[in-house]
Amino acid sequence: MKQRKRSSSGCCGWFLVIIVLAGIAFAVFAVLKHKTWGSGSPALGDPKKYSDALKIAMQFFDIQKSGKLDENQIPWRGDSALKDGSEAKIDLSKGMYDAGDHMKFGFPMAFTATVLSWAILEYGDQMNGAGQLEPARNSLKWITDYLVNSHPTANVLYIQVGNAKVDHGCWNRPEDMKEARPLTQVNASYPGSDVAAETSAALASAYLVFKSTDSTYSSLLLKHAVQLFQFADKYREVYSISIPDVQTYYNSTGYGDELLWAASWLYHATGEATYIDYVTGENGDDFANWGSPTWFSWDNKLPGAQVLLSRISFFGSKEVSNSDALDKYRKTAEAVMCGLIPKSSSATSSRTENGLIWVSEWNALQHPVASAFLAVVYSDYMLTSRTDKLSCDGDNFKASDLREFAITQANYVLGNNPMKMSYLVGFGNKYPEYVHHRGASVPGDENPGCKDGFKWLDSDDPNPNVATGALVGGPFLNESYVDSRNNSMQGEPTTYNSAFIVGLLSGLVATSSVVQSFA
Ligand SMILES: *[C@@H]1O[C@H](CO)[C@@H](O)[C@H](O)[C@H]1NC(C)=O
Ligand SMILES: *[C@@H]1O[C@H](CO)[C@@H](O)[C@H](O)[C@H]1NC(C)=O
Ligand SMILES: *[C@@H]1O[C@H](CO)[C@@H](O)[C@H](O)[C@H]1NC(C)=O
Ligand SMILES: *[C@@H]1O[C@H](CO)[C@@H](O)[C@H](O)[C@H]1NC(C)=O
Repeated sequence: MKQRKRSSSGCCGWFLVIIVLAGIAFAVFAVLKHKTWGSGSPALGDPKKYSDALKIAMQFFDIQKSGKLDENQIPWRGDSALKDGSEAKIDLSKGMYDAGDHMKFGFPMAFTATVLSWAILEYGDQMNGAGQLEPARNSLKWITDYLVNSHPTANVLYIQVGNAKVDHGCWNRPEDMKEARPLTQVNASYPGSDVAAETSAALASAYLVFKSTDSTYSSLLLKHAVQLFQFADKYREVYSISIPDVQTYYNSTGYGDELLWAASWLYHATGEATYIDYVTGENGDDFANWGSPTWFSWDNKLPGAQVLLSRISFFGSKEVSNSDALDKYRKTAEAVMCGLIPKSSSATSSRTENGLIWVSEWNALQHPVASAFLAVVYSDYMLTSRTDKLSCDGDNFKASDLREFAITQANYVLGNNPMKMSYLVGFGNKYPEYVHHRGASVPGDENPGCKDGFKWLDSDDPNPNVATGALVGGPFLNESYVDSRNNSMQGEPTTYNSAFIVGLLSGLVATSSVVQSFA
């Protein structure tokens, strides 16, 4: 694929002088600024850069919004999918499109909401400092409004809008969609504990976010969260076994992790001992996989649950936190952290030559950003609780080692990589221009139907609309990236990638501490 050169204009002598002077001034400024941040240690990274990147990353949620866009800020977006849900007489017009397509997949959408809630709960102050707290809450609510409506009765949850085969057979803007938008549900006969529990986790965590500002709404969220957890726990099945059609895109490998994750969130939301008993009792033995570090992702919530439950052993009251099982969660979270620190003897070898965590070819960046988010959260738990060391097979590490790891991942994503390109669209002066995203690829004044839009997929021109804030799939293991619109493996952004990077950047915008209690 052709590489576009960014034009640079010629310049004359005085201009050069100005540039040099500006460079010196900037360097002096940077040194002074670093001083005001304290130690000048590499553990601080570049907060201004992360704050700028955060403002950009947050915009992708606006691009993905379905429904009636009353306060739309994206010039090439408009109302779409207004009738979603109508076949069941419910309103599923809101929510977010999953990626470059126009499917609403409930499993990853709920996970996006859970991670975004978590980021707000840990780093709401930092987001606020960057002017991003309100946008984050608005985007979260856009999803939770949908999730509440997708759960019309106790044991029915709509988990998908659209037919993936039909949807992927079209290439046009969401505003011009004409295809039928069939609904898929899980219920007591065809259950889905993973998707129901993830939706419960999303609503329980969002309850905590909205608790202080909107008690009516937050109570509604909690009511649904509790019911969904009961539904998930009582009718145990993997949703992609009940409904094999969903295996093509978001095949779930199990529901035990989501049950523990949802119960952990419900414990934080309600403080009720039953939820602690749930994760520390038999279900912990069955599902927690103690001692084995794994990768946090839309399919695997265990590392998230381990870190979230560590919160209780860091900050909880003695009578709750003195439990053997909670200790095992924390030890497993420590094992995850030890795997991430490059100098630790149990460091994972799943890295590129330049240090990016790299686990899978498809959507490669999901793992490094998810891991870095967990690392910065865990490092802040250590700092806030004055825990001075993390022990990894006899070697001791500090909170700052985890933060430094997180910074290396963020910096890589933002351009410190062999491609010298930012994988966050809109950040820096080189980023992917052929993002696999239908809406971004079709000019705003064109209204192609399902099939006639494919000429925009095939076009050699860069996307006419910039999908600002999209975090694309990312590089190969050899750190190369092919900027081609048809390259969905590397070039397709997702909403959950955005939730991770928003969380990560929020954790890096200031030297951090976290609140000791979400309540
Ligand atoms: C329960 O869900 C299955 C799978 O989505 C669906 O085929 C079935 O019609 C649903 N049951 C009812 C009563 O709607
Ligand atoms: C989905 O996951 C299940 C369980 O891990 C596996 O048996 C099945 O082959 C997977 N399906 C697809 C289409 O990959
Ligand atoms: C895009 O990729 C798909 C799947 O690899 C392939 O079937 C299709 O022909 C490609 N389209 C273009 C325009 O290259
Ligand atoms: C990098 O890896 C990809 C995928 O394995 C491969 O297609 C490509 O040719 C490799 N590029 C280089 C420069 O080795």
